[in-house]
Amino acid sequence: MLKGKHIVVGITGSIAAYKACTLIRALIKKGAEVQAVITPAGKEFITPVTLSTLTSKPVVSEFFSRRDGSWHSHVDLGLWADAMVIAPATASTIGKMAHGVADNMLVTTYLSMKAPVFIAPAMDLDMYAHPATQRNLDILKTYGNRIIEPAEGELASHLIGKGRMEEPERIAEIIEAFFATRQDLAGKHILITAGPTYERIDPVRFIGNYSSGKMGFALAEECAARGAQVTLVAGPVQMQTRHPAIRRIDVETAAEMLSAAAGAFPTADAAILCAAVADFTPDHAAISKIKRERGEQTLRLVPTQDIAATLGAAKRPEQRVVGFALETDNEESHAREKLARKHLDFIVLNSLRDAGAGFRCDTNKVTILSAQEEKKFPLKAKSEVAKDIIDTLCQTFADC
Ligand code: C5P
Repeated sequence: MLKGKHIVVGITGSIAAYKACTLIRALIKKGAEVQAVITPAGKEFITPVTLSTLTSKPVVSEFFSRRDGSWHSHVDLGLWADAMVIAPATASTIGKMAHGVADNMLVTTYLSMKAPVFIAPAMDLDMYAHPATQRNLDILKTYGNRIIEPAEGELASHLIGKGRMEEPERIAEIIEAFFATRQDLAGKHILITAGPTYERIDPVRFIGNYSSGKMGFALAEECAARGAQVTLVAGPVQMQTRHPAIRRIDVETAAEMLSAAAGAFPTADAAILCAAVADFTPDHAAISKIKRERGEQTLRLVPTQDIAATLGAAKRPEQRVVGFALETDNEESHAREKLARKHLDFIVLNSLRDAGAGFRCDTNKVTILSAQEEKKFPLKAKSEVAKDIIDTLCQTFADC
């Protein structure tokens, strides 16, 4: 519930502005107090009277009242709010926010905002896909703002594509979930690797493994829900990310995964290496398809570089590195050997001997091992296992 929460709803000049009414109603229904702030263009789409009636408060749209000259303080709003959500956010407002162009009350309020900011873009598919818009959204993410991705669907232009503002009820749920969850990773950047890697043999064949990415994606959602900015480096998987604070980098090979992970690690507070990275890769990939007529073939495999060990060796004292071990025998001693060799803060062990654990399942049964302790957990949904792992990670931050 959002009982007692103060939420600033910013509305800009998009046809989706009418949906702001549903959003405001949903927030108020959940117990929030709402202050609407609208841009001049927003007023072309929805009237301040509608908004002030819904919120039971005058709408803020000008720097001062033309009637009596009284000043509307964006600074006070920045302090009053527990959250700000800009829905709909046009390409123009997104650009202004990214670059600090404070020429209206909404952007001025945004720049004064002390609370978390959610941004729900709404625009035509080409405008959304344009590199200028994408770059501006990336800039806003680096400020810690949460982008609520638009959905695919029919747009005001009658074109079909990505750019439709997320449904207002869902936006209200995202804000509610944010407040319902402990924000113990707020301000932290967590790097996660997930899924398998594919090592190319020729243009149509590869060496892969059965990893589904489910555990890594569950960890990414959990970290983001607890306030972290997440960089998720994903091998080839059939998984979607939901949370706006997850930046996903898709890779295919172990070498690409290493390069993406090493690029993100210097700014990360922790790396969770969950991917099932290939240990070997063909010494070269054939340029054209290897024909059956060539008869018996020998594949020469060379070792890949160990990402966990590389990051473990490079970590600074305040950084944490967490690894996984999927074992079939002598589980604990193998895991302890990896813990030490890869300089991990702790390792999450699962055994293929346990039914419901490991690859492809929605459940997992893990033991968390560190130099100091050993915690055995029962079989749980991967989303619940993620909570146990992230609780342990937060404990290592608290211990330092
Ligand atoms: O040595 P082993 O592959 O069993 O270690 C598993 C752990 O090491 C996992 O955390 C996995 O993500 C990581 N790993 C890695 N790079 C590799 C191989 C494993 O990051 N090339």
